[in-house]
Amino acid sequence: MKKIIITIDGYSSCGKSTLAKQVAKELNYVFVDSGAMYRAITFYFIQNNLNWENIEDVAKALKNISLQFEYNYEKGTSDILINGENIEGKIRDMSVNDKVSEVAAIKEIREFAVAEQQKNSTDKGIVMDGRDIGTVVFPKAELKIFLTADPEERVERRYNQLIRFGKEVDREEIRKNLEKRDYIDTHRKVSPLRKADDAVILDNTDLTTKEQMDIVLGWANEKIK
Ligand code: C5P
Repeated sequence: MKKIIITIDGYSSCGKSTLAKQVAKELNYVFVDSGAMYRAITFYFIQNNLNWENIEDVAKALKNISLQFEYNYEKGTSDILINGENIEGKIRDMSVNDKVSEVAAIKEIREFAVAEQQKNSTDKGIVMDGRDIGTVVFPKAELKIFLTADPEERVERRYNQLIRFGKEVDREEIRKNLEKRDYIDTHRKVSPLRKADDAVILDNTDLTTKEQMDIVLGWANEKIK
């Protein structure tokens, strides 16, 4: 059966990764959370006291960073590893949330991450979510989705997710962080977040998981057949 590339882009906390993971599982495709890569790089800078605004620090970091994903198909998890260390449990802390969009706005860092993301494309059969996947990483993807949801609903979802992870957070802090990240992501010079011209918009504010999946699988099957 023909295999395709599916891209899911959109604002923070619209449920992109959750949807991408479910679609990948259903189609037996590889799921790649590109945001986890920018988060891992940010974690590395913070942990090693490096400054992403200093070009020498950026060059040094990128030379030393090797990123990998570890998939557990039974559990449906994909953990990010940096230089062999599984840091999945550390990349969603507020310290990373707070800085990741600044780090992801640096040209050299984006070039590095995009090259890593494109390495996955040789075999197709990929679902990748992020901010520039349909516009920059896979501009020829067969199915491009631009996911949106009501801002208050997004705050609520991120709040519940972080509480589930056992983090101490309050809604106001999350609201401010989402607004800040969306602002930086849409206003940066290098590949800002925008809907690809040929992307379909999906607003999932009032959709159940099943309704959302049915819509996306319908679109995917149209392209696959
Ligand atoms: O998707 P997630 O919220 O985990 O992404 C974290 C941050 O990484 C985003 O706010 C954005 O700044 C950056 N990002 C990006 N391009 C991508 C994926 C994520 O700039 N393709």
